[in-house]
Amino acid sequence: MNVLRFSDLCDEGRARGRRVFIRADLNVPQDDAGNITEDTRIRASVPCIQMALEAGAAVMVTSHLGRPTEGEFRPQDSLAPVARRLSELLGRPVPLKQDWVDGVDVQPGEIVLLENCRLNKGEKKNSPELARKMAALCDIFVHDAFGTAHRAEASTYGIAQYAPVACAGPLLAAEIDAITKALANPKRPLVAIVAGSKVSTKLTILQALASKVDQLIVGGGIANTFMLAEGLPIGKSLAEADLLDQARSVIAAMKARGAEVPIPTDVVVAKTFAADAPATVKAARDVAADDLILDIGPETSARLAAQLKVAGTIVWNGPVGVFEFDAFAKGTEAIARAIAASDAFSIAGGGDTLAAIAKYGIEGDVGYISTGGGAFLEVLEGKTLPAFEILEKRAKG
Ligand code: 3PG
Repeated sequence: MNVLRFSDLCDEGRARGRRVFIRADLNVPQDDAGNITEDTRIRASVPCIQMALEAGAAVMVTSHLGRPTEGEFRPQDSLAPVARRLSELLGRPVPLKQDWVDGVDVQPGEIVLLENCRLNKGEKKNSPELARKMAALCDIFVHDAFGTAHRAEASTYGIAQYAPVACAGPLLAAEIDAITKALANPKRPLVAIVAGSKVSTKLTILQALASKVDQLIVGGGIANTFMLAEGLPIGKSLAEADLLDQARSVIAAMKARGAEVPIPTDVVVAKTFAADAPATVKAARDVAADDLILDIGPETSARLAAQLKVAGTIVWNGPVGVFEFDAFAKGTEAIARAIAASDAFSIAGGGDTLAAIAKYGIEGDVGYISTGGGAFLEVLEGKTLPAFEILEKRAKG
């Protein structure tokens, strides 16, 4: 990746006394009371901020939170809970500034968090006027928001066009390095787990991986569609009947390469979608018309775990069952534990995947945990994300 790296600028003393604008991805899940329920992205953003502070820069940090309506502030869209968490992690006050586009007062060695950048009119559509104003706030723009690297918005793309210097933060650089390591020259067998409710939202990634991986493990609603494509009954489970041909072509493409989509041979079903619904293990061919498939069964889990154990590289996106309900969590737990026990280089990404990793406490056993959701998938697909495109362009001068 041919981009300027913020760490190099700091090492060369080029950030000292400079106004540094960091675009982070601090978009974290919150409960109804506004408490942060998972803070991986905030923790992952700390090294860049610390690097800037230690380099003697005047530090501005912003992020989006959710998808608010531009120009309409609502308390639930505020980064205030993020400012509090960041302050705990940094061990220093992190003031939150509203209405910052026309000027920010911050001194070298200080940090200020700029309120949710998606409240600014023109952010989503990458308004040049807004981007120029943001660029005028800084001497150095640092893109460290890997989770938002697939968006071309004013605070992620336009500002990188107009800022005097535009570079990649350590998180952005580490993410692309790790994913490139996993896919460019992977140790084989390369196993990908792609799970989620819909084939349609992950069809392009399934198609892209079908030409690269040795085993493509599908889970959740995606697995249901593949089971249906293989002629298995799925009862009233979530599936997309209009995508059976696409599922079949992924299976055929894999077979043609001597690779495999392991279809579940047993599943855990219930009659209703509820945490306390009685769970029954069944052979896949025995699923009844009124059954809902909510997890893979023990035989399938054991087979997949054995494949993961001997893998050289593992890419994981998505839990294979409704792991939020304990009765339907065993499949995802088995996958998580198999990844943790495997000697393979493993890389995992996506909000639900991060939640599963946290639930089973295997953070230390995964080779690399990506902070990206959509961005992670787009890189796996082989796309060049807007963040890297503009930073490479700026590096060329
Ligand atoms: C994410 O949660 O995947 C990122 O923060 C990007 O958010 P977005 O999909 O609202 O752009």
